[in-house]
Amino acid sequence: MSDPGFLTKLETAIQVTAHQAVCALYEFVFVLWSCPELIPPMYRLWEHSLRISPYTLFEQEPPTTPSPEVEMTYGEILLPTVDKLFHKLALGPDDHIIDLGAGRGRIVMLAAARGLPATGVELLQTLVDIATHATKGYLPLAQFKQGDICDADLSEATLIWFSGTCFLKETRATIAQRVVSQCKEGTHLISSSLPLDHPQLPVIEVYKGWTSWGRSPLYIQQLQQPSVETSPSSPTL
Ligand SMILES: C[S@@+](CC[C@H](N)C(=O)[O-])C[C@H]1O[C@@H](n2cnc3c(N)ncnc32)[C@H](O)[C@@H]1O
Repeated sequence: MSDPGFLTKLETAIQVTAHQAVCALYEFVFVLWSCPELIPPMYRLWEHSLRISPYTLFEQEPPTTPSPEVEMTYGEILLPTVDKLFHKLALGPDDHIIDLGAGRGRIVMLAAARGLPATGVELLQTLVDIATHATKGYLPLAQFKQGDICDADLSEATLIWFSGTCFLKETRATIAQRVVSQCKEGTHLISSSLPLDHPQLPVIEVYKGWTSWGRSPLYIQQLQQPSVETSPSSPTL
């Protein structure tokens, strides 16, 4: 008699493999057709992934975060989705993108290939090294820093990309507070799966895009001034 647990695992494995193959093909066509500047860095990432996968890296290099099983979940936004959002926000060379939890740095790479200065902040030194090596000599507008996103300097950012999916409530609250205290009014924030909860960061649009874990909402938020409460005792003119 067949083992139902085995069949379920097999079905999941087939679905995951099929999804990964479709994602890889979609991105391959996108890069060739629409962004050939990315061919050398993407080739380097692919070559490296044959030796070590970003999806299992953290099992080999356990970080010292309080909840690594949640905060070190790996996933990537597919490049055509990132590109659509860059176009939607009409970004230009005066913008600066910061990807908080940059992984292998693909969002930063695409930004740099489109002429947008970008910085990736990532906790794992191995991922920072992979991203730095992949862009070296090809994408001068891309830079990567090893560090904790909760300590990152956000003051230069005009767009912050945040993987809302895999960060704890406390981390999301810290990032929201830092965006509000450090960034200029009008700064955009894109958070995957969950928006950042702050009254000065209203969601202005929800875009459904493709990610390595399926179709997911991406929340576009924009930093506003605090609303001024009119005190009931204020004199009226
Ligand atoms: C979901 S991945 C995002 C990858 C990338 N943004 C993309 O879409 O291609 C989240 C990344 O955040 C990193 N990370 C987790 N906690 C962090 C922290 N406290 N500071 C900096 N990076 C962190 C993980 O190592 C992982 O690479």
